[in-house]
Amino acid sequence: MATDHTPAMREPVRWYTGGPSGARRLINRLRARVAEQQRLEAHRFLEADMRGLWREACAGVGLCQYVDNAAGMTVRTPRFGGLRVGPAGTSFTVELMPGGEPADVEAHALRLAHSLGFAGLRVAPLGGRWVRVVLFEVDPLASTFALPHDVVGRADAPILLGRREDGALVEHALASPGHIAVQGQNGSGKSQLSYGLLAQLAAAADVLISGSDITGLLLGRAWDGTAHRAHQVTGSKDLTAHAAHLDRLVGWMDDRLDTMPPRIDNIAPTVQTPLVLVVLEEFPGLLRAAQAKDRKLAERITSAVLRLLSEGRKAAFRVLMLAQRFEANAVGGGYARDQFAVRLSFRVPAESLAMLHGDDARRLGPEHANTEPGIAYLSAPGQDCVRLRAPYLGGYGAYCDRITRHGRREDTEGRAA
Ligand SMILES: Nc1ncnc2c1ncn2[C@@H]1O[C@H](COP(=O)(O)OP(=O)(O)OP(=O)(O)O)[C@@H](O)[C@H]1O
Ligand SMILES: [Mg+2]
Repeated sequence: MATDHTPAMREPVRWYTGGPSGARRLINRLRARVAEQQRLEAHRFLEADMRGLWREACAGVGLCQYVDNAAGMTVRTPRFGGLRVGPAGTSFTVELMPGGEPADVEAHALRLAHSLGFAGLRVAPLGGRWVRVVLFEVDPLASTFALPHDVVGRADAPILLGRREDGALVEHALASPGHIAVQGQNGSGKSQLSYGLLAQLAAAADVLISGSDITGLLLGRAWDGTAHRAHQVTGSKDLTAHAAHLDRLVGWMDDRLDTMPPRIDNIAPTVQTPLVLVVLEEFPGLLRAAQAKDRKLAERITSAVLRLLSEGRKAAFRVLMLAQRFEANAVGGGYARDQFAVRLSFRVPAESLAMLHGDDARRLGPEHANTEPGIAYLSAPGQDCVRLRAPYLGGYGAYCDRITRHGRREDTEGRAA
């Protein structure tokens, strides 16, 4: 029985949760907050770990300064800023040391990346002394990548040269100024790269693929039935035919220069005046064979190629020269070698790498001397000494099939070779 002294039954305290579904929402919100806190904590741990590893790695490769102060000798390394981990990958910011340049970090890229547990890294300048170090989990150079079934319709459309260490694609428009030099030892990937370049260009309405090929594989039979075939000379039996053909190309270039419209100093490729790509497959081999036969013939070939290299750019002529080594006397002299704006080196001895790409490439020499087929070192305008993997077309049969399928049929300028 209830009396005045009986304490009243206390109602349990109820929080207003907005009903059963509101309670679920509240629980979800709390869970999300906990998860976010755990994520931030894990991020802080990872960041602290990476900061320590970065410092050790920099000191390990010598990317540091030793500062002598009252407390003794301390090591100063490029300062680790903030870590970013996301679907786009892992990266962090770094403040370079006074006097430092992004290239200082790039010079030790592989060793630093390996110390951090990654396959590679790229350095992107941010502003002032700050750079972003982007890490890659897999090495894009390590795996073969297939050439897409793409062809370009015009000389100014970019063609694919390869894939860089950071996975970015490297392209080059044939119409942009610059001849292309490709060197590499036997079986290093020169032909595969050339198959890819020519297969992409075979259908372009304003490109004519001409040239000289003593092997008769890159040019020649594969091009039968196309408009390009009449402008190609192959085989090593008749070397005079190669010299005569190169002379004809020089004559054609001279005609274009002589008839250049007023107020124009550079011919833009069109269907009527196509860009002439002069492919010189194994050029040192052609020169050697010509020298063995008749020195005058070799001189004739050299001087024609020199003229194409030095004046061709204005007349919409481009040279693609392939050689095992770009030694000056093997390719028509140091002057000829200097005319190439786009330079690719597949596996070559360290000395040959520095010879074509300059002293900056020297540090990569020992590693590049043993690199796999298809991996090349590139110097080109806007591409400062990068390594790339050339696309793989799928062998010689696949190259022939692509040329048969895509090779342009009608001859634009109607010139006979
Ligand atoms: N980009 C690539 N991706 C994968 N494999 C490649 C690539 N390039 C070349 N290879 C492999 O290396 C082999 C030799 O390549 P390629 O014929 O292009 O060499 P090369 O430099 O032209 O040699 P040579 O001086 O004898 O003509 C190819 O048959 C292929 O197996
Ligand atoms: Mg070859």
